[in-house]
Amino acid sequence: MNTSENRRSFIKKAGAFIGAFSVNSLFNQIHASDWNDNEEQYHGLSPIEMASNEDYWSVIQQGYSASSSPIIILNNGGVSPSPIVVQQAVERFNQMTNQGPSYYMWQILDQGRESLRESLAKLGGCSSEEIAINRNATEALVTVIYGLDLKKGDEVVGSTQDYPNMMQAWKQRVLREGIIYKQLTFDFPIENDEEIVEKYREAITEKTKIIHLTHVINWNGQIMPVKKIAKMAHEHGLEVIIDGAHSFGLLDFKIPDLEGDYFGTSLHKYLSAPIGSGMLWIKKDKISKVWPLVCAGDPQSDNIRKFENLGTRSFPIEQGIGEALNFHNAIGTKRKEERIRYLKDYWAKQAKDIPRVKIHTSLNPAYSCALAGVSVEGIEPGVLTSVLMSKYKIHTTSISLENIHCVRVSPHVYTKISDLDRLVEALSNIAKS
Ligand SMILES: Cc1ncc(COP(=O)(O)O)c(C=O)c1O
Repeated sequence: MNTSENRRSFIKKAGAFIGAFSVNSLFNQIHASDWNDNEEQYHGLSPIEMASNEDYWSVIQQGYSASSSPIIILNNGGVSPSPIVVQQAVERFNQMTNQGPSYYMWQILDQGRESLRESLAKLGGCSSEEIAINRNATEALVTVIYGLDLKKGDEVVGSTQDYPNMMQAWKQRVLREGIIYKQLTFDFPIENDEEIVEKYREAITEKTKIIHLTHVINWNGQIMPVKKIAKMAHEHGLEVIIDGAHSFGLLDFKIPDLEGDYFGTSLHKYLSAPIGSGMLWIKKDKISKVWPLVCAGDPQSDNIRKFENLGTRSFPIEQGIGEALNFHNAIGTKRKEERIRYLKDYWAKQAKDIPRVKIHTSLNPAYSCALAGVSVEGIEPGVLTSVLMSKYKIHTTSISLENIHCVRVSPHVYTKISDLDRLVEALSNIAKS
């Protein structure tokens, strides 16, 4: 083949990789036949029945290099590893890009964005005209926080248990524009939706314009009744922003069903997309009133793409999202949710019976999924995290926030039961010492 034929064939192949669900996707080449066989054996079993089927999940675990890491990674809520197929896709896109970035990235890979938008919208149960692809939940949510018109004295209700980046963004608006930012504090775990809804309701005044919610509280894993709060907020004529960093790609829901107006998420947490990928959803009729965080030719347009004018960034990472979606969809959201909840229950239900050990998260399935907090009486969370790492090679993260002090543990689909046995054993040994 001469050089130009070589190049044409390369572009043809590259084109075949672009777009989720292409029959030529890397996922299909690598996993389709094994996973189909795996699938056929369990046909007809419900997600809950499948949750404890180790044979099925061992095939999924093999799809992740992290499943053979010398360290047991139990902070997937922070950031999750990508399956091998996603890593390979990013590498291939990157190699292609570096043959000539301004051509391969801006003219070839760029063509994959619209089909990616469609695939993300399908998973989110919404219109693709409501989805902007970006780099993380912070970028998605701060776009909305800074992009909405508010005047001095307008009130926003959030909580001290929302994510710090979002709280800081609201506080910056307090300093610059004189808006009022009220923050509620909850004594989690709470297993009563009405108690939570009431607290938001009581904070509303005639000046309130927005309620800022976190779908899954990152500090202890509490699932919030966002739909009920959003309904109540709409009855008062307010708008609702939902931080879905820990819910998208984990919990089985459709974004519009939450009844928020704005929803931002990372894709590099439970969806296992390449690190540095995120998504913003805005209800179609609200898009025109949100100013872009960066810039756009027509900043008041109702075209969601106005939020994607982010300057030069990694299209290989962005296009890698497609393979993460293939991997995720081949498992199915509900099945993944039930498996990860099962893994959380597996360790937490054993740990709670160990003397001196306390679980800081509700084990009622309506109120938690992947994340749970644990502590050992008399041991600071930071010390517990260090001992788990230095003595047992278990990586977790410690939480010290006003009324939440624990070590946060978050497994993923690649986590093995033996990893969790090691965690329980470690907690038991530490509690005895
Ligand atoms: C609740 C919540 N929101 C937002 C974020 C920010 O995510 P990112 O780092 O992807 O911007 C996090 C990160 O852990 C989080 O826990």
